[in-house]
Amino acid sequence: MSSSKSRWADEDPEADALIAQRKREKEEKRRAKAEKQRREEEQTQLQAARSQSATASPNGDSDAPPKKRRRLSNEQQQQPTSGVDSQQNQVKSNLLQFPVLEWGPCRHVDNFERLNHIEEGSYGWVSRAKEITTGEVVALKKLKMENSPDGFPVTGLREIQTLLKARHQNVVFLREVVMGNKMDEVYLVMDFLEHDLKTLLDDMREPFLPSEIKTLLLQFLSGLEFLHSQWIMHRDLKTSNLLMNNRGELKIADFGMARYYGDPPPKLTQLVVTLWYRSPELLLGAETYGPEIDMWSLGCIFGELLTKEPLLQGKNEVDQVSKIFALTGPPTSQIWPGFRSLPNAKSLRLPPSYSSTQKGTAPPLLPRAKFPFLTNSGLQLLSSLLALNPAVRPTAAECLKHPYFREDPRPKPKEMFPTFPSKAGMEKRRRRETPEAPKRGQEAPKLDFASVFGGQTGGDAGEAGAGFTLRLG
Ligand SMILES: Nc1ncnc2c1ncn2[C@@H]1O[C@H](COP(=O)(O)OP(=O)(O)OP(=O)(O)O)[C@@H](O)[C@H]1O
Ligand SMILES: [Mg+2]
Repeated sequence: MSSSKSRWADEDPEADALIAQRKREKEEKRRAKAEKQRREEEQTQLQAARSQSATASPNGDSDAPPKKRRRLSNEQQQQPTSGVDSQQNQVKSNLLQFPVLEWGPCRHVDNFERLNHIEEGSYGWVSRAKEITTGEVVALKKLKMENSPDGFPVTGLREIQTLLKARHQNVVFLREVVMGNKMDEVYLVMDFLEHDLKTLLDDMREPFLPSEIKTLLLQFLSGLEFLHSQWIMHRDLKTSNLLMNNRGELKIADFGMARYYGDPPPKLTQLVVTLWYRSPELLLGAETYGPEIDMWSLGCIFGELLTKEPLLQGKNEVDQVSKIFALTGPPTSQIWPGFRSLPNAKSLRLPPSYSSTQKGTAPPLLPRAKFPFLTNSGLQLLSSLLALNPAVRPTAAECLKHPYFREDPRPKPKEMFPTFPSKAGMEKRRRRETPEAPKRGQEAPKLDFASVFGGQTGGDAGEAGAGFTLRLG
């Protein structure tokens, strides 16, 4: 017989019913037992949790492992913690944690009333605005979305990412990011500062006093030391990216070019830093570089603070290199070992007499006549920052300890700083005639430096250098 039915089923329905009844009773008993066991387990867990919270240290450090693995998702981090949850969060403090951004909807830009336009830069429009509810004055930077085929400009992403990480008294404070009506209207809300150093220097009759330059440099160095300690290279340091308020405080701004680096530094784009502040290794095509490029820019800014004029105003890359060598003297393999292997150095023809007379590995002092009011110690600091060889440039931390800052005149207390009328606080300004920051995504040009010493560069007609003459056309 092929049927799977019980042989007895059709024959004895009463017996069938009895069997079914027994089965049900058995099932019922099993369920009751399981339920009792579950309740007992729950009770023991609760007791264990209570006794743990009684023994946990007051600062919440407990060595006990969590009962169960917890998902460290955003929602759970933001949930209010209580009871067993809060205990497990205490335990979590002992685990390796990754920074989790608190995502939430951005506020609308309508929360701010636009007061006046400040400046159109390469990557954004900056205006002064007032937060309607608090009346606080802020700076609003609307990110430029053009030329961003990926949907959001990398410069904007880098600026937000690095500024959120770079919380320091000498770095501009990013308060929040707000949105307009469309997805491509993204604004950074920052603390407003009355001046940038470029505009201020343009408008000042006399340069800053030595004591004021020291105060500005110390703040600049302290911000930069912090950035480098966080593995952030700014890559576009120039006077227009240094902000100052009327309380004598300086803050580093414009992080559109900033990025994280590593040790050893990764292969990076060479087309960074505005031309006048660009280091010789970048100009000679170095593919790996580090925070020393920021130290070079700082040296250029130091020189600019002293003379009120940008120090090295090249008309193009070749002219920039000529101007650098005219100030520092040309590179030699003694003072900059290995510079010859940089891609653009192959075409560089050095004056033969010079390379043989240059001795020693220390960077030569810059011509004193160019900085007549600088002390010897100041000139030594400036010359080391503008060393052609990036490896001998001092770090920001080393600069902060330099004797220049301890000799007279001492740095002026910030509170004693003069105040200046704020252009940013009042009117739209003309676009400045200074070179722009390099555009992202552009290839660094292949440069021919054959003409640096005596060829056609498109630069000035002639330059007097440190002990040699450049004929530039
Ligand atoms: N927080 C601020 N407070 C006051 N003014 C500011 C602030 N941020 C920027 N500015 C002004 O706006 C100018 C341009 O800002 P920023 O450098 O951030 O923009 P950008 O588009 O990256 O500029 P660029 O490419 O020209 O360097 C600054 O030089 C400064 O004058
Ligand atoms: Mg800028």
